[in-house]
Amino acid sequence: MKILVTEKISEKGLKVLQESGAKVDIKMKPPREELLSIIEEYDAIVVRSYTKVDEELFSYAKNLKVVGRAGNGVDNIHMPSATQKGVIVVNTPDANSVSAAELTVGHMLAISRKIPQAHQAMKKHHWDNHGYIGTELYKKKLGIVGLGRIGALVATRMQAFEMEVSAYDPYIADSRFEKFGVEKKETLEELIKEVDFVTVHTPKTKETAGMIGKNELMKAKKGIKVINCARGGIIDEEDLTWAIQQGIVEAAGIDVLKDEPDTTSPLFDVENVTLTPHIGAGTVEAQDKVGVGVAHEVLGALRGEMVTNA
Ligand code: NAD
Ligand code: MLT
Repeated sequence: MKILVTEKISEKGLKVLQESGAKVDIKMKPPREELLSIIEEYDAIVVRSYTKVDEELFSYAKNLKVVGRAGNGVDNIHMPSATQKGVIVVNTPDANSVSAAELTVGHMLAISRKIPQAHQAMKKHHWDNHGYIGTELYKKKLGIVGLGRIGALVATRMQAFEMEVSAYDPYIADSRFEKFGVEKKETLEELIKEVDFVTVHTPKTKETAGMIGKNELMKAKKGIKVINCARGGIIDEEDLTWAIQQGIVEAAGIDVLKDEPDTTSPLFDVENVTLTPHIGAGTVEAQDKVGVGVAHEVLGALRGEMVTNA
C-alpha cells in the first residue's frame, strides 16, 4: 500500500503509518501540477485543510481508496466525488474539539479585556494602565450558534465564568439543550438581538455560509462581540467589517477566514478585531490525537476494517 501525506501531521501519527509496513511518502504541500501527476500511484492520501481534494484530483486518483483528513472539517474534500468513486473519507472530528473550544474562550477573553492591544503597546515599551478598559464576562449573555461538539464545550466552560448561555441549533433535540443547561432559541434573530457575545460553531454549508451578515448584525444588540473559530465566511467578513465601523459590533475574535491562507481580508484593517491564523487545533495534544487518530483510521480503512471517525 502507498500512502501520500501532503500536510504536517504529528511524529506519532507518522510513526503509526510507517510502522504499518505501508510505503509512506511525505511531500509537504506539493505544487498542484505535481500532486495531479503523482496521485494515481497512491492508495491513500492524508491531508489537513490546505490540500484541495476536489473533483479534479479525484479524476486523476485512479487507485485512491482512502482520504484521511487529519482534523475535523471535510470542506476541502469533494464528498460527492468520493462517494461516486467509492473512496472512503475518514477524519478525526473529536480530536481537536477541546483545543478549538479553548481558543474560542481565549478570543472571548482577549477581546473583552483588550489583551492584544495592551500587549502591542507594551511591546513598544509604552506603559498605560488606564487605556484598556474592558468588560467582564460575568453575568453577560453568550449566544452559541451550533451546539455540537465544540459549541457544547464552549457552553460548559463559559458557564464556569457565570455567563448566561443560550444557543440556536435547529438540528438537535431539546434534550441536548437541557443536558448542557443552555437556553434554546428558536431563531438566529431571537438569539442575536439579546446576547452580548455571539460565537459560531457550525460546519460551513450552503445554509451557514454568510448566515451572519448585515441583516442579522443590524438586529444585533448594540456593542455585541463576535467570535468565529469555526469556518471563515460563516460570518460575512465585509459585513462584519461594516458593522464594526458602524459601532454595532464592538469587537471580534476571528480564527478563520473565507479564503485561507489570507492576509488581505478587510478585517485586518479594523480596530478591535483580534485575528489568529486558523490555530484552533494548534496544540500538542490536539495534533497528537489528530495525527495518531487519522493514521489508525486510514490504515483501518485500507484493511477493510470498520472506521469510527473518532
Ligand atoms: P459538530 O458537527 O459537532 O456541531 C455542529 C453543530 O452545528 C451541530 O449541532 C449542528 O446541528 C449545528 N448546525 C448545523 N447547521 C446549523 C445551522 N444552520 N444553524 C445552527 N446550527 C447548525 O461540529 P464541531 O465539531 O463542533 O465543529 C464546529 C465547527 O468548528 C466546524 O466548522 C469545524 O470545522 C470547526 N473547527 C474549527 C477548528 C479550528 O481550528 N478553528 C478546529 C476544529 C473544528
Ligand atoms: C479542523 O477542521 O480540524 C480544524 O479547522 C483544524 C485543522 O484544519 O487542522
